[in-house]
Amino acid sequence: ETRIKHIACIGAGYVGGPTMAVIAQKCPDIKVTVVDISRERIAEWNDSNLDNLPIYEPGLKEVVAEARGRNLFFCTDVEGAIREADMIFISVNTPTKTYGVGKGMAADLKYVELCARQIANVATGNKIVVEKSTLPVRTAQSIRTILDAESNGLQFQVLSNPEFLAEGTAVSDLLNPDRVLIGGSEEEGGQAAVRALVEIYARWVDRSKILTTNIWSSELSKLTANAFLAQRVSSINAISALCEKSGADVDEIARAIGMDSRIGPKFLKASVGFGGSCFQKDILNLVYIARSYGLTEVADYWEQVISMNDYQKRRFAENIVNRLFNTVSGKKIAIMGWAFKKDTNDTRESAAIYVADYLLNEQAELWVYDPKVKAERVYADLDYLNTRGEDENRKLVKVVRDPYEAMQGAHAVAVLTEWDEFKAYDWQRVYDDMKKPAFLFDGRNILDRNKVKALGFEFEAIGYRS
Ligand code: NAD
Ligand code: UDX
Repeated sequence: ETRIKHIACIGAGYVGGPTMAVIAQKCPDIKVTVVDISRERIAEWNDSNLDNLPIYEPGLKEVVAEARGRNLFFCTDVEGAIREADMIFISVNTPTKTYGVGKGMAADLKYVELCARQIANVATGNKIVVEKSTLPVRTAQSIRTILDAESNGLQFQVLSNPEFLAEGTAVSDLLNPDRVLIGGSEEEGGQAAVRALVEIYARWVDRSKILTTNIWSSELSKLTANAFLAQRVSSINAISALCEKSGADVDEIARAIGMDSRIGPKFLKASVGFGGSCFQKDILNLVYIARSYGLTEVADYWEQVISMNDYQKRRFAENIVNRLFNTVSGKKIAIMGWAFKKDTNDTRESAAIYVADYLLNEQAELWVYDPKVKAERVYADLDYLNTRGEDENRKLVKVVRDPYEAMQGAHAVAVLTEWDEFKAYDWQRVYDDMKKPAFLFDGRNILDRNKVKALGFEFEAIGYRS
């Protein structure tokens, strides 16, 4: 049986970093090398001050502290790591294509292909290549073809091992996953590779939770899981709009339906809309795949999950303008939270970006506060939209480190991320320091409605008629 001694992981991002840190922690006898082309990112992973890791995740710095330098290494020597490893995880980004055929829909696989070619070119021994990135169904076939074309007689096995961790809970999701999914080819070589990977996870995950499937099921399960999760959020958000008209309360509805064990209580939190690097990208990818197989109805069905999310973000921003007497021009508005959810510094596809952009088009003056997101990130996110010039974004948006400074003298406060600290603020003080009427828009339904209303706020939450 193959026993893995050296693992390499290409891509030291939100998935590669935490995943490899946990594997290294649990398998002290395996050397784990995480490589990336970004020198800056690798330097941050190696920073002696663990508060400077490139990714913020609760519990991550403790795991890195334990394993780094022992059997966990971060470096930029991609070729060296490939040569040394028996098993190579590909954990690079697979963003939505921004050019050419499938622009705005299909997954851009150029980074994955580069990895496959590099592995084929530098490998001097047999390797197991593991797809950790989220990939369209049948990508393993392409990877295999590239590897075989350049293999010089070496044996490569390709496995699919999608990652289900959610940001903000990455370490606990990795330590205690609902399941681990491993797909491999049905030939004996493929099954031996599957067993080698099973043995790694089995060090800390109960074998009953390690699911092995054929490789296409594994690839397609990942897209399907994200589509189902996002669909739940869009479904409850659709109902939130109906609640705001009818006087029903969306959180009460979520509780009522969630107690039905067939529906379940999780992922029914109405919000300003889902964000993050995965949901939109993976659903678009699914839609694209369905369309390319000629399955129009299937594509239309899943596409609606995205449309509902766009509607939810737009609706929230429109409501701010409407309530502020149809104009926010020159008005100070505090944006509380920029990350796409709490406990992460990731802002990719965050609803806050789109709400801010809408308000900036209405010439609002935005003051942004987020406990973990840096000012440069906020500006980069707005610049990326290309809606207005970089100078204008810097003129209209201020990013501050003190939440009270963000809210002082504001016409309105909008809560866009559900950071726990927001609940503990002195909302009396905030109210006293704001322009009146003081508008408070809770895009995450985290504030106690009765309390803030008693303080005098004009309060609006998602899925609730004020
Ligand atoms: P990321 O952008 O944080 O990290 C990817 C890293 O890969 C970057 O640091 C980049 O510099 C590096 N990279 C790109 N090409 C490279 C190359 N040729 N050689 C070396 N390094 C290279 O992305 P992420 O959020 O970690 O996502 C990675 C994959 O995992 C994606 O396919 C994503 O869909 C999937 N995924 C993400 C999550 C999540 O919550 N973020 C969860 C599950 C799955
Ligand atoms: C998601 C999947 O959950 C994870 O399994 C996969 O590996 C990667 O994609 P992530 O994007 O990190 O994880 O976070 P998630 O917790 O799924 O939240 C996504 C978005 O949905 C966030 O903006 C969150 O605020 C929003 N959301 C989630 C809601 O608005 N309501 C909910 O009830 C749940």
